[in-house]
Amino acid sequence: MKIGVLGSGDVAKVLASGFIKHGHEVLMGTRTPANLQAWAAQNSGARIGSFADAAAFGSAVLLAVKGDVAADALRAAGTANLAGKCIMDATNPIAGAPPVNGVLRFFTNLDESLLERLHTEFPAAHLVKVFNSVGNALMVNPQLAGGKPTMFICGNDAGAKTAVRGILDQFGWETADMGAAEAARAIEPLCMLWCIPGLLQNDWLHAFKLIR
Ligand SMILES: NC(=O)c1ccc[n+]([C@@H]2O[C@H](COP(=O)([O-])OP(=O)(O)OC[C@H]3O[C@@H](n4cnc5c(N)ncnc54)[C@H](OP(=O)(O)O)[C@@H]3O)[C@@H](O)[C@H]2O)c1
Repeated sequence: MKIGVLGSGDVAKVLASGFIKHGHEVLMGTRTPANLQAWAAQNSGARIGSFADAAAFGSAVLLAVKGDVAADALRAAGTANLAGKCIMDATNPIAGAPPVNGVLRFFTNLDESLLERLHTEFPAAHLVKVFNSVGNALMVNPQLAGGKPTMFICGNDAGAKTAVRGILDQFGWETADMGAAEAARAIEPLCMLWCIPGLLQNDWLHAFKLIR
């Protein structure tokens, strides 16, 4: 696939490297290309442009910016460049307030997720929540003693979720499709749960697994 990546942070860089490793073409979109020079030097073939360049390039798009500016990034990407495309949404709605006993604060509530807010503003974009409930160090082909971990995903477009499942297969994850966009109300807070051992005990090397 051709994948446009919106972002220049750790998630954007790690996942973009993973896409390239697994044979996809990548164009990174950022407002500040200088942030990506060191990454680009180690990832031959990667291209760097604006948010709009990346969204226009991709047949699929990764959204990997701060949660409180996710809508701004999609606006800069351009509604027409997103229409009908799989948008992998790795964002979390983390608020500016500090965590309480290791529990992050969100600016959303349990009746409306960030994914749903983005859906409302960008109805033609096929948003899929994915990669939000694990740290970037484990996103691509994690090696964990407990075996293959589970990535919880959701979204309203079946074709987009099939594309995401294909990437998760390549990246060494089991996929658990939790259904439509509303499931992001449950999937986004998994980020809070995942971060607690990290914030309390500096333990960041774990992932969720669904067992039956
Ligand atoms: N860090 C993790 O391990 C992890 C794990 C799971 C999920 N997440 C989620 O993934 C997302 C990315 O996390 P991250 O740690 O890689 O990076 P981050 O520091 O949360 O975000 C960096 C990105 O935000 C963009 N940004 C900041 N202000 C902006 C604005 N006003 N308009 C448009 N874009 C703006 C920056 O754009 P420029 O490139 O233009 O500077 C940059 O690409 C977050 O939502 C985070 O909650 C993170």
